[in-house]
Amino acid sequence: MDQGAEGRCWHCSRRYEDCEETARWLLDRIQCPPDIAIICGSGLGLLAETLSSPKIFNYSQIPHFPESTVVGHSGQLVFGALQDKSCVCMKGRFHVYEGYPLWKVTFPIRVFKLLGVKVLMVTNAAGSLCETYRPGDLMIIRDHINMPGLAALNPLRGPNDDRFGPRFPSLWDTYDRDLRITALEIAQKLGQANLTHEGVYCMVGGPNFESVAEAKFLQKLGADAVGMSTAPEVVVAKHCGMRVFGLSLITNRVAQAYETQESVNHSSVLEVGKQRSQLLQMLITDLVRSIQFKVENQEPAA
Ligand code: HPA
Repeated sequence: MDQGAEGRCWHCSRRYEDCEETARWLLDRIQCPPDIAIICGSGLGLLAETLSSPKIFNYSQIPHFPESTVVGHSGQLVFGALQDKSCVCMKGRFHVYEGYPLWKVTFPIRVFKLLGVKVLMVTNAAGSLCETYRPGDLMIIRDHINMPGLAALNPLRGPNDDRFGPRFPSLWDTYDRDLRITALEIAQKLGQANLTHEGVYCMVGGPNFESVAEAKFLQKLGADAVGMSTAPEVVVAKHCGMRVFGLSLITNRVAQAYETQESVNHSSVLEVGKQRSQLLQMLITDLVRSIQFKVENQEPAA
């Protein structure tokens, strides 16, 4: 087996006990365990600043946590209340292109599970493969194509730990239908229906943006938008039984012809994120407000 420096399969999951140790460390330091986890992609970092009674941890403080290396992605977990719901925001995620093995990319998700998180909300920046999507538009993720996953770069590769989930999980209903419908209604209410779409997100490994031939290929596969994150975290969240919501901010068009001059770079991606940060924040905040949790151990109403 492919061995990493720590003597375990390079691709495999972190041991359950390590996730437990991290979860326990966090639980000892927070007031209220979170029900909702939000991964703040480009443009959503400021959401974490709106949490009330925040408790902030730098990734470097947290046992077993990886550290973020990308400009524009800080590395903090912020715990607090949003719309009276107990949340944790991940400011800065881990990407495969940074060189992280997939168990590190998805380690926080398993820690969230052990903290009691029931809903994962994931945001990202993505390039448009769809004629009708423009930079600044939003795409509610209906489904994904996990390109690295299809080629065995899957976070569930390796021995399965049944305490997290089954060996062969189904992904057919991964992106929660009710949350998607509610998000569309919120976009409408915010007057943004014309720039909000629902579509298929394709994850590629990056860090280069796509060649023209690759873009045409992905579009033919049925992808509406392409980005370099999200699928691993979502696969692990679904594996361990969380409800998932995904939102892409379209930051650029992906060139599908040699004649068109579509230039994309990391700073233009961040710039669109900045311009749209308020809208993203409002949509996610309203969506958090809409979520109702069943009170456990309570008799159902007669
Ligand atoms: N391709 C891949 N990832 C991206 C893009 C893109 O065009 N835009 C933002 N993230």
